[in-house]
Amino acid sequence: MTDIPIVEAFDICRRDAQRGNVLLQPTSLALSAGDRVAVTGPSGSGKSVFLRMLALLDPLDAGHIEWHGKPVSRATITRYRRNIAYIRQRPAILDGTVEDNLRYPYTLGAYRDVRFDRDRAISFAVQAGRGHDFLDRLASELSGGEAQITALIRVLQLAPEVLLLDEPTASLDPESSHAIEALVQTWLASGDAQRASVWVSHDPAQAKRVSDRHLTMRAGVLSEPAASAGPSATHSEAREDTR
Ligand SMILES: Nc1ncnc2c1ncn2[C@@H]1O[C@H](COP(=O)(O)OP(=O)(O)OP(=O)(O)O)[C@@H](O)[C@H]1O
Ligand SMILES: [Mg+2]
Repeated sequence: MTDIPIVEAFDICRRDAQRGNVLLQPTSLALSAGDRVAVTGPSGSGKSVFLRMLALLDPLDAGHIEWHGKPVSRATITRYRRNIAYIRQRPAILDGTVEDNLRYPYTLGAYRDVRFDRDRAISFAVQAGRGHDFLDRLASELSGGEAQITALIRVLQLAPEVLLLDEPTASLDPESSHAIEALVQTWLASGDAQRASVWVSHDPAQAKRVSDRHLTMRAGVLSEPAASAGPSATHSEAREDTR
């Protein structure tokens, strides 16, 4: 196994373009194979901003991101986004059935090389506590939690390297939340592929269950409790005297 992280963010920073205030202070984070990170923190502290920047869906005002030790270029950004997958806090679900939603990515140019596997999709749904007929359900009739499950399966089936989960169980009952946790943990542990996850949660007990490393976000500053501080964390100012 290589020592180079799957993804490494170096002092990435984001400002609100209109008001000029800082949304994310310069933040560094390395994600290596097997890493399971949880992020908790108050509403509006920058957790979603951080995940979207890691996924290179939102612009970086400073800093850069490396993928397997190399900068992400115009030529590699599509493959990067395919592998470093952001699961939105409020999933975008299309009209039609759940299966139509799961088939959708395969209509995109970025996924021309892979094919929809119905049995595997059903198996994910069953692991998430749904019935075998889940794929036939109408998207317009899904509960918030079922929409979240659909969005998660839509990403898992594409076998990304890193899952960036933005409160994926916020609208689920405890039983379904545990099913989602189990689904993600099974996915993380399966195969010999390099996989890692960052899970944003408002539930400290869940954060503990789904991670080995717990970070907190406060007013755009990502940090971890001093007792468990590792070598690859986090806020650049905290490390200035070690440089
Ligand atoms: N594109 C944007 N432009 C300007 N400000 C933004 C943008 N996106 C988010 N913000 C602001 O950045 C701050 C952090 O938002 P963010 O969505 O990251 O919070 P959060 O920690 O995920 O909160 P929650 O727990 O409620 O989801 C908020 O004040 C929000 O209004
Ligand atoms: Mg958020």
